This record gives sequence, structure tokens and C-alpha cells, in this order.
Amino acid sequence: MSKLRHQLVEQLRADNHIRTAAVERAFRTVPRHVFAPDAALEAAYANDIIPTRHAPDGRVISSISAPWLQADMLEAARIQRGHRVLEIGSGGYNAALMAELVGPAGHVTTLDIDPTVTERATRFLSENGYDHVHVVTADAEHLPTGVVPDGDFDAIVVTVDTWDLPWIDALAEGGCLVAPLRLHGYHWAIGFTKDKGALHSNEPLTVCGFVAMQGDGAWKTNRRTVPGTGVHLSWEDGTPLPVDQLAPALTREPTVTRTHVTVGGQEPFDALTLYLAGALLGFCRLEVDPDGDNQVLNPPPQHWPGAAIVRGASLARLGTERIGDGDDGEGRYEFVVHGYGDQGHVAAQEMAEQVENWQRNHRGARCPLITARAAAGSAPPGTDHEPHVFAKKHTRITVHWPIVPSSTAPLTAPKSCSTG
Ligand SMILES: C[S@@+](CC[C@H](N)C(=O)[O-])C[C@H]1O[C@@H](n2cnc3c(N)ncnc32)[C@H](O)[C@@H]1O
Repeated sequence: MSKLRHQLVEQLRADNHIRTAAVERAFRTVPRHVFAPDAALEAAYANDIIPTRHAPDGRVISSISAPWLQADMLEAARIQRGHRVLEIGSGGYNAALMAELVGPAGHVTTLDIDPTVTERATRFLSENGYDHVHVVTADAEHLPTGVVPDGDFDAIVVTVDTWDLPWIDALAEGGCLVAPLRLHGYHWAIGFTKDKGALHSNEPLTVCGFVAMQGDGAWKTNRRTVPGTGVHLSWEDGTPLPVDQLAPALTREPTVTRTHVTVGGQEPFDALTLYLAGALLGFCRLEVDPDGDNQVLNPPPQHWPGAAIVRGASLARLGTERIGDGDDGEGRYEFVVHGYGDQGHVAAQEMAEQVENWQRNHRGARCPLITARAAAGSAPPGTDHEPHVFAKKHTRITVHWPIVPSSTAPLTAPKSCSTG
């Protein structure tokens, strides 16, 4: 099995997920299979997640995250020997990697809401020489004082899908916080550094998916169904708008507004959707029941849930139209905006202008600059709208898009997606 382990490390190095000698040494040292005794050895050393716990309805509620994503997040956390680090969401394996990174002079605390998970993590860690890792059972929404003192951690690594970042105070000035953050339904692993009390990120983001947060910080859907249409609109950030009057609009053929902005068949455009989510008032995500019989919206286009905006009794949504084969034979697509209802063409024009603006000014940007500040004293979530501000319960997240004309800079696509 140590051969499988070293093969995995070679792959993570070749794919640039492991970038430093310290992270490489941790991955070479810690056996992964002992934290997933029910998995076959090949699965334990595959570059993929290992589900370890399911809810009664079959959903995965705990897993060992994919090694490539763990490597990316540990590199982003810049953990040094002697550091005090906190992991949110346990399992044991990632905490053991962290214990290797901090060494005997450092300290690792790993915290999980689920006592079954912490019991297993405690057992696996102590059986494998990591009994100095501190395992805590608690809801990460309320870090237990004393166990997790304020302002003490040099790094915090969040390994569960999170809508907010209530951990700024627990991080020391200059420390790193890495988290898979939901911004309007899009999930990004983001590495932040704390500077003057706020978190700042200016590194490329990784599109990812993690198991859902439970407890008081669980994301609560703002999903509304347009009556009689099988169409659902979700607002994750911002205020949900009324949807009852939209039904007639969704039974008529839409207008099509072209953008002349194109994308390859295998080219992710998550950056565009995040840009639109921040730029457009009333932004939401639109889903259609796959087995519904809506003649206008079905069959659903490729990328659901799709970016949409609501304007009174009208709606616009982003789509793509194939315009050629592309150099790689994977197809070339143009972004088009479909407008539904009397004012649908106006809403579609508004969205199309933002697609063109992204193409003209921001598509070449290496990454957006993201800042998270404590929300204390600011408006409650959903009551204000400034461009590219996501108002959460604990924080205000600001996304700033540098101006980089697309003709002078290459498109940097976000990295691919996995679950953890
Ligand atoms: C992907 S798993 C963690 C994987 C782990 N870090 C590893 O070694 O790969 C996510 C964990 O987050 C936990 N979790 C969910 N909601 C939580 C909350 N509110 N507070 C603490 N842990 C939570 C789940 O119980 C689950 O075990």
C-alpha cells in the first residue's frame, strides 16, 4: 500500500496540487487507508473522495475529501512547523496531514458536529500515532471558547460546504483561512489571509463541492416555484422576489439576445456566472423539473441551474447556442440570453450587457479579489444591494474584478470540480 500512496503523491505533484516539500512529505507519511478501513485499498489511494457516512435518505454527510482538493487547500493554508491550526469538519486523515505539517511544536484541533465522526476520528488518530490531535465535538457556528480560543489560530481549514465565514475572530492576524464558500449557489475553495481584521484573497479559486453544513450555520434554501410551470428559482444571497406572476411569461416563446461572446465546449465559465451574480440585481438560479412538460423551457439546456434575473412579471436567463465545432472538436458556443414575458427582452439586454462587460474588461483576469469583513454594524442579509457585495449573516463579502482587457490576457479557467 505504500507503493499506492507514493503513486498518488506522484500524481498530485505532476498535476501541481502538491507544490511544496512539506505538503509532499505529509502525503508520503500519512497512510490514507487506515482512516477508511471499509474502503478497498485501490479506492483508499484513488484521487477521489471516500464517502464515510450517509443520512437515512442516502445523502453523503461525511467523507474523506479528494486528495487533490486536500492538497490544494493545505498548500493555500501555508501551514508551518509550530503553527496552531483548526480544521472544521473531521475525519482524521486531513488532521493527520496537518499534524505532520505543524510538527511536535505545533498543535492541531479538529472539530465536527457529528459525534460518530469525532469518535471514529479520535480512534483512528490515536491508533496511528496522532493522539496529540485535539478532537472536539461541536457545531462550528459556535466555536466553544476555551477549547477554541479567539485569535489564536495561524490557519483554519474548513472542509465542509459553508455559506458564511463566522471564524474571522478565531484567526490570528496574518493567518490563513481556506474555505469552500457558497456565493449565490456557486462553490469556491478560497484561500484568505487576515490583514487588519479582514480576510483577503487574491489567488485563483477552485470550483468544488463539499458535504453540506449542518447545525445553526446550515444553508437554508430560498427556493420558489413558479405555479404550474415546474420552474424553480433560488436566491442564495439577496432578497427573494415574488414569482407568482411569472407563469404566463414562461408559457410563451422567449426572445433571444445575442452577446457574440463565445466559450469552448469543455471550457468552464463559472467566473462569468459569479460575475453576473454580483453585477445583476435580482440574480437567481433557475431550475426546471427534469420530468416536467413545459414546452418552452424543456428540454433543459446543458448547464442547470442557470443564471437568471427577475424583473416584475418578466425574466431573463443565460443560455448557450452552438455555433461551430471549435478547434478541439468539442463545440464552440455563444452566450445568448433568453427573455420571457413583456419586458423579457429588456431584462435580457441588461444581462447581455453584463456578459459583454465581463468579456471586455474582466475575462482575462487571473482571479477576482475577494474580501470578507465582519458584518457587525452593517445591514442585515438581503436588505441592501451594492454591486458585487454578498451580505451574509456574519460577514460582508466583496468581490472585486480587476480590469484586464480580454485581448491582452489569456483566459485562466478555474480548476475542475470534485466533492469533499
Ligand atoms: C468532508 S467531511 C470532512 C473531511 C475531513 N476533513 C477529512 O479528513 O477529509 C465534512 C464534515 O463536516 C461535518 N460538519 C457538518 N456540519 C458541521 C458543523 N456545523 N460543524 C462542524 N462540523 C460539521 C460533517 O459531520 C462531516 O464530517
